[in-house]
Amino acid sequence: MKYLVANWKMNQIDFISWQDEFLKNFDNANFKDIKIILCPNSTELAKINDNKIDEFLLGAQDVSRHLDGPFTGQISAKILKNKNVQFCLLGHSEIRAEGETNETVLQKAARLDTEQIEKILCIGESQKVLEKGERNEFLKNQLESFFKSNHKPAFIAYEPIWAIGTGIAANTDSIKDSVDIISKFIKNYFDFSIPILYGGSVSSENIKEIVSITGIEGCLVGNASLDSKEFANIATKI
Ligand code: 13P
Repeated sequence: MKYLVANWKMNQIDFISWQDEFLKNFDNANFKDIKIILCPNSTELAKINDNKIDEFLLGAQDVSRHLDGPFTGQISAKILKNKNVQFCLLGHSEIRAEGETNETVLQKAARLDTEQIEKILCIGESQKVLEKGERNEFLKNQLESFFKSNHKPAFIAYEPIWAIGTGIAANTDSIKDSVDIISKFIKNYFDFSIPILYGGSVSSENIKEIVSITGIEGCLVGNASLDSKEFANIATKI
């Protein structure tokens, strides 16, 4: 089984035509080998949910660390649950860049656990960390902070910040090194593995090579998921 997560970020998608175009370009028979999780902007969650298509699982891009109440612009785990959200991204670098800390990631994880929403933990180093040769330590620190609590994510998404939105994915050797760091770390905590996804400029050109890396079970796709034809190509090649 392979996993594809579409992160539509702050982009407006006309879901009905996106879906039509996707299904036109993707052989339905392949749905048995792949799980697709769509993470739209929160205002669009209901539309996808109301559409009741079994093939697409519903994910959110973020959740509030608060339970409910006067937190303008935020969305609670309870509201997500009421919209039948099954997954939620946690700790995406674009949210960390706005001030999210390992601590707030944990608070959000606790809210998701209460509502039994599965977590997709995003980790990844910056260009600067990479250049300083500190990737190992940086990733371990992000993981350590998460796993010292009792939260268990459904997926760990390795998204090197330096590859996001650039059109150039990390090369296979670099991804292998990170998968190695992550899987060794997980082994210390669990007697089973947690699927690892890769994210950062995934396209129909590079998907095959990326998922051929041992330990990579799928991808988290930004830009290329906005174009449903391209996303269908990715899903076909995975
Ligand atoms: P891109 O695929 O646009 O590089 O974005 C990756 C990402 O951030 C997915 O969460």
